[in-house]
Amino acid sequence: MRIDVLTIFPDYVTGPASLSLLGRAQEVGLLDLRTFDLREATVDRHRSVDDSPYGGGAGMVMRADVWARAAEAVWNDLPAADVDGTDDLDIRAGGPRPRTILFTPRGRPLDQALARELATEDRLVLCCGRYEGIDERVHDHVATDEVSIGDVVTFGGEVAALVLLEAVVRLLPDAMGNAASPQEESFGDGLLEHPQYTRPADWRGHEVPEILRSGDHARIAAWQRDQRIAHTRAVRPDLHRRWLDDHGDTDD
Ligand code: ADE
Repeated sequence: MRIDVLTIFPDYVTGPASLSLLGRAQEVGLLDLRTFDLREATVDRHRSVDDSPYGGGAGMVMRADVWARAAEAVWNDLPAADVDGTDDLDIRAGGPRPRTILFTPRGRPLDQALARELATEDRLVLCCGRYEGIDERVHDHVATDEVSIGDVVTFGGEVAALVLLEAVVRLLPDAMGNAASPQEESFGDGLLEHPQYTRPADWRGHEVPEILRSGDHARIAAWQRDQRIAHTRAVRPDLHRRWLDDHGDTDD
């Protein structure tokens, strides 16, 4: 899968992405990760990516023309200097625009279902904004999707891009090496994970539940399922309700 990240801080993405399983995914050719420095798409001598907002107000707004030139260069694998910025936005070879995701708190919340959907794409383009916002015309004419990583505001979209990268790449076949199937963990079937323990069996008086040491696999599986249901109900009643609906159960 090819993923391009458009940002004014390419190192923010390439650093963490070189580590651990994202690094391995690149080494083995599962992930072709590229970054594009938005300043490459600027035209003035100050290399400005932003300007003051129409209508006044605090903060700066990222420019639509810079974003459009950057996106068109990346979509078409062209140097930004070869995109004159006056054409209609297009894919020169024809065909659909790759999913071009703009990170914003007002976007569709990222969840496991969206990660699964995106993991089926050949190519993604991730757009990371900074400053107070991005010109609305980028939302309307450049992005195909808007995604949020939660009801919280971060300094910029780079951290959101990293979250999405990890969530999507780990779903690619073989990305997890020998680890268990991603289906068997939190959200795989709509429930959160059950608790896990390892040695020592008694740590400062806190003991591993006896049942996990019983060797009775059927009882262990039933206990783990009960734990998942109880934990989901306690901390995420919204997920629990959806899980009940999907399983045709009734709740009190
Ligand atoms: N940029 C700033 N906050 C964000 C959020 N919650 N999700 C995605 N991008 C963001």
